[in-house]
Amino acid sequence: MKTSNVIIKFFADYVSSQLGIIYSETNYYQLETRLQEVAKLMNLNDAEELYVLAQKGFSPQLKNLLLDFATNNETLFFRDPPAFQAIERVIEAESHELVNRVQPFRVWSAACSFGQEVYSLAMILDRMRNLLPASGYEIVATDVSSRALKAAEEGIYSEMNVARGLDSFLRDRHFLQQTTSNGDIEWKVRPELRRGIRFLNQNLLDSFDALGTFDLILCRNVLIYQTTDSRKDIVKKIFNRLRPGGTFLLGSSESLLGISEDFETDRFERATLYRRKDLSKAS
Ligand SMILES: C[S@@+](CC[C@H](N)C(=O)[O-])C[C@H]1O[C@@H](n2cnc3c(N)ncnc32)[C@H](O)[C@@H]1O
Repeated sequence: MKTSNVIIKFFADYVSSQLGIIYSETNYYQLETRLQEVAKLMNLNDAEELYVLAQKGFSPQLKNLLLDFATNNETLFFRDPPAFQAIERVIEAESHELVNRVQPFRVWSAACSFGQEVYSLAMILDRMRNLLPASGYEIVATDVSSRALKAAEEGIYSEMNVARGLDSFLRDRHFLQQTTSNGDIEWKVRPELRRGIRFLNQNLLDSFDALGTFDLILCRNVLIYQTTDSRKDIVKKIFNRLRPGGTFLLGSSESLLGISEDFETDRFERATLYRRKDLSKAS
């Protein structure tokens, strides 16, 4: 049975208030499918029954499921390879300062989804360890979806997911092959690679103050779902978490045009990087 627009709008408004994600009416069909999945997981027949339940209040279970299912978690290893090559160039260029530094090189993967972005970063930083401070690196990986975050922390990927972006050399170096009870092959990240990564639940609409200061922040393929005002607000908060000169990356189809003028734009071949301006030096 088709769910009424009143019900879908009710949940779209809730998702928007919690995540900033905007579902326009043309995308209601997507939300409808996701509501049906949530209803099923809550042993309900359909979105209408979910609506009746939600009228009584959003329990933590319902809230978590809605946040898990209302988000698009599409990701892959080394998504947009030029961006990762550009990160390598930045580290090479800054290595003379980094090697003499006491604090570790700090990276934040904001909206890390199932973790492929985080482990891609870790594989690069592991290889470039001799260009980093002796204290190494620290990656903070955050997402608002507890389902995605749990999977990211487990770091187990199917053959199909591994085939999306990871070559066999890096796969064998950083992942251990295991077999599921169904006989399927899967790959589990080695503990050595996970050691430098901290996984935290963080909503981009909330304060970032507790996260500390970073050398590099990736916030890719998530701001597209936000309103312009919300993008401006999130980017301002990201600015405040970057050290002056620190690097900020968006997804390949995103840009800071009309969002912020607090960053210099650097192009490395086909990738765009943003560098935090030192506003204290501005005239
Ligand atoms: C399309 S994935 C992008 C993953 C990765 N950054 C990439 O580019 O491959 C978007 C992620 O943003 C997360 N997300 C959506 N809204 C969010 C919010 N308000 N706060 C934190 N994470 C959010 C979703 O849970 C999802 O995992």
